[in-house]
Amino acid sequence: MRVFRKILPFETWRLSEHLLRLSPEDRRLRFLAEVGEAAIAEHCRGIDFMRTVVIGFFEAGVLRGAAELHFDRAASGAELAITLEGDWQDRHIGTELLGHAITIAENRGVRTMAMLCLLDNRRMQHIVRKLDGRLEIVDDQAEARLKVPRPTQQSLWEEAAMEGLGLISGWLEVFGSAAPIDAAPARAA
Ligand SMILES: CC(C)(COP(=O)(O)OP(=O)(O)OC[C@H]1O[C@@H](n2cnc3c(N)ncnc32)[C@H](O)[C@@H]1OP(=O)(O)O)[C@@H](O)C(=O)NCCC(=O)NCCS
Repeated sequence: MRVFRKILPFETWRLSEHLLRLSPEDRRLRFLAEVGEAAIAEHCRGIDFMRTVVIGFFEAGVLRGAAELHFDRAASGAELAITLEGDWQDRHIGTELLGHAITIAENRGVRTMAMLCLLDNRRMQHIVRKLDGRLEIVDDQAEARLKVPRPTQQSLWEEAAMEGLGLISGWLEVFGSAAPIDAAPARAA
């Protein structure tokens, strides 16, 4: 079952394991440089959950994709980075993660969202263009800027729905294998 939900501060190990499963090329595209295990561990340890929301994409209970949304101090802007493991790429899951990130940014009053990507990251640039984002080339990087709409009842509802479905799916993952009540063995007479 595909599940999108925010990851909790004590779950950064899941993010770390996901980032470590990325190919060296995908890690370079994510961090704009080649990074090793130590840098990934430090990155995950350093996440300030007071100013960051990490939306996870789970399949069969394993984190296979993540959108890290870091809010600036004034909370009018945010920076986003998205990652998906190789077998889950090009299935529009990245676009869906981006949609959830925009909804969450919207509900926090963010007005613009920035994404940094390398010039050879054509896939990410394609997604940004599709969403009418602005791309600015600075040295060997492209800075994408997306306008974030104002919050609406629908955006609040969408975030709540994602949370609710995530919670129920997590519950099913833990308890779903328990035998249902009506399947209890018959008692001997
Ligand atoms: C970038 C990334 C998040 C995108 O997620 P994804 O699920 O693979 O992307 P989607 O399937 O939602 O969308 C891909 C789009 O790019 C297009 N695309 C794929 N390869 C492309 C290429 N080389 N050039 C141009 N467009 C390309 C696809 O056709 C699709 O377009 P469509 O929606 O019009 O059909 C994911 O591939 C990833 O994690 N890459 C490695 C890390 C990374 O680059 N992170 C971004 C740093 S901000």
